[in-house]
Amino acid sequence: MEKLMESLKNQENQSLELQCDDFENIPKCEVCNEPIGIVVEMPFGKRLYPRACKCRREIYNNQIKEDENKEKQARLNRFICNSMMNNNFKKCTFKNWNHNVGNEKLYKAAKEYVKNFRKMKNGNQGMLIHGRPGNGKTYFVASIANELLGKLTPVICIGCIGLTERISQSKKTWGDEGIFTILNALDNADLLIIDDLGTEEDNKWTRAIIYQIIEKRNNSRLPLIITTNMSINKIVERYDYRTYSRLKEMCFFIENTGKDIREFQGEKKAEKFIQEVFY
Ligand SMILES: Nc1ncnc2c1ncn2[C@@H]1O[C@H](COP(=O)(O)OP(=O)(O)OP(=O)(O)O)[C@@H](O)[C@H]1O
Ligand SMILES: [Mg+2]
Ligand SMILES: [Zn+2]
Repeated sequence: MEKLMESLKNQENQSLELQCDDFENIPKCEVCNEPIGIVVEMPFGKRLYPRACKCRREIYNNQIKEDENKEKQARLNRFICNSMMNNNFKKCTFKNWNHNVGNEKLYKAAKEYVKNFRKMKNGNQGMLIHGRPGNGKTYFVASIANELLGKLTPVICIGCIGLTERISQSKKTWGDEGIFTILNALDNADLLIIDDLGTEEDNKWTRAIIYQIIEKRNNSRLPLIITTNMSINKIVERYDYRTYSRLKEMCFFIENTGKDIREFQGEKKAEKFIQEVFY
């Protein structure tokens, strides 16, 4: 990177000298070896003009992509105001991952998912993590979200209750149009994470909304990650087979068999308390 920056700096200086007449010896970028000038035939003769080499084009394209992503994230934050991405959430990172309590299989899965995110996104590939309460599902998705957000990838992570309530609120204000506004806004997220599927109120309307969210995600060919305490059978039973079959198509199903970390942490805390108070 340092070499690239130095070379680009040199090019900036050189561009002034591109007025030179030596068309056979157009200066080249030290990094990508592409010429940084181009000869243009003018009525008054040939002239050498500056030209962006591969590195420069890459920097320029990355900058455009970055600006686009920032814009998308801003739109997401505007529409999905009750997401879970607060300070507590921000602490759930790979760096802070506690390997004594966290599940190694999940750690690897999270790392690989982030590493291969471009491929995952292009393949519309998500995950569905199911398992008992307290075994690190939310921590797992939060660490993925934080890592991707750090790379300026637009991500939204929202609890299923929050999401269905947000949509319901929007419907109350704007009618059906309000539902589509939120569903469309979710498309700004390269990755949508719905935490705790099944905790939302269970009725015909919420079930239909969950179906629509999944179907929209599938149509837009964008990935979705879901966590839930529900068993597979329960998912099929509650949301019907159409929803389940789409989830199966879009998500790797991972069962988190880890034990309840909350219980473990509670016991540790109690032990410490007893030690301090009674001994
Ligand atoms: N890898 C980890 N490193 C450090 N702490 C963790 C890790 N995984 C989970 N924890 C902690 O353990 C507790 C329970 O984890 P979490 O909330 O992610 O469980 P969950 O599976 O989402 O539970 P539920 O199904 O009830 O939503 C939290 O306090 C969380 O911060
Ligand atoms: Mg959770
Ligand atoms: Zn170059």
